[in-house]
Amino acid sequence: MNLKGRSFLTLKDFTPEEIMYLLDLAAKLKEQKKQRITGNRLKGKNIALIFEKPSTRTRCAFTIGCIDEGGHPEYLGKDDIQLGYKESVEDTARVLGRMFDGIEFRGFSQDTVEKLAKYSKVPVWNGLTDEYHPTQILADFLTLKEQFHTLKGLKLVFVGDGRNNMANSLMIGASKMGIHFTILAPKSLWPKEDLVSLCLGYAKTSGSIITITEDLEAVSGADAIYTDVWCSMGEEDKAAERIALLKPYQVNTELMKKSGKDSTVFLHCLPAVKGNEVTEEVFEQFADIVFDEAENRMHTIKAVMVATLGNE
Ligand code: CP
Ligand code: NVA
Repeated sequence: MNLKGRSFLTLKDFTPEEIMYLLDLAAKLKEQKKQRITGNRLKGKNIALIFEKPSTRTRCAFTIGCIDEGGHPEYLGKDDIQLGYKESVEDTARVLGRMFDGIEFRGFSQDTVEKLAKYSKVPVWNGLTDEYHPTQILADFLTLKEQFHTLKGLKLVFVGDGRNNMANSLMIGASKMGIHFTILAPKSLWPKEDLVSLCLGYAKTSGSIITITEDLEAVSGADAIYTDVWCSMGEEDKAAERIALLKPYQVNTELMKKSGKDSTVFLHCLPAVKGNEVTEEVFEQFADIVFDEAENRMHTIKAVMVATLGNE
């Protein structure tokens, strides 16, 4: 598998085989890290980390992943560079592309990350936009593989804001990888029709069943129940409205029990607002898995950088 020179902007651009390759590479890198073996796969590579929005996991994953493999990361926060207000995205991209070997972008618009890739001509990695969060999905799927030793045929239910970056990206990833995927959300927070149609197309090939519903009974048979914050970054003014709308969709012990399986796990991309989308009780019951998932951000992001930019 050769992904050299590729950007990682959305999982739409990657085949199931390529996604599986990244997951296997991440598992290998994780195993090596546990044995304290780090490499030089990014030696001589300079990597820009652009953050318009805050981050704990993604920033640290790119930083540590890069340094572990001998590369140099440079953090560019929203007040550090001129991106988008004093200098166009196109010009910033062309400057950074002359100096850096790879660029991570976290921010608002998917269009910005697409433009960065187009104009910088170096690999660009999407560290979250309003629309997608593709590196998170790799960590989620690696965690599912660790728990269940397979992805195909699992049932994953996403509960909450069914049209946010996580719901969108999980639907793309699941429908490509043969995971049965349900979005459980009030109708006003369902994903866009065109994205659902695209994913139904992927599902035809992979065998996934995609369901979008308001019915809480849809968690029946779930292997994993996933949730995310009710207000994504940039939507803080919607808090009261979302709490009122999503209260019945809180992941609590009662909802977990509705899966009807003792083996059902809980996942969360973090950060979590306990008492809103998940109770403290459920969160703590599954904390070990949720923090495996957080740790896996690092191994999977390292795999993306190594695969698209590495010296191997
Ligand atoms: N899950 C995730 O992307 O976390 P951060 O916002 O801390 O990067
Ligand atoms: N939907 C959340 C994900 C955080 C990792 C947000 O965009 O804030």
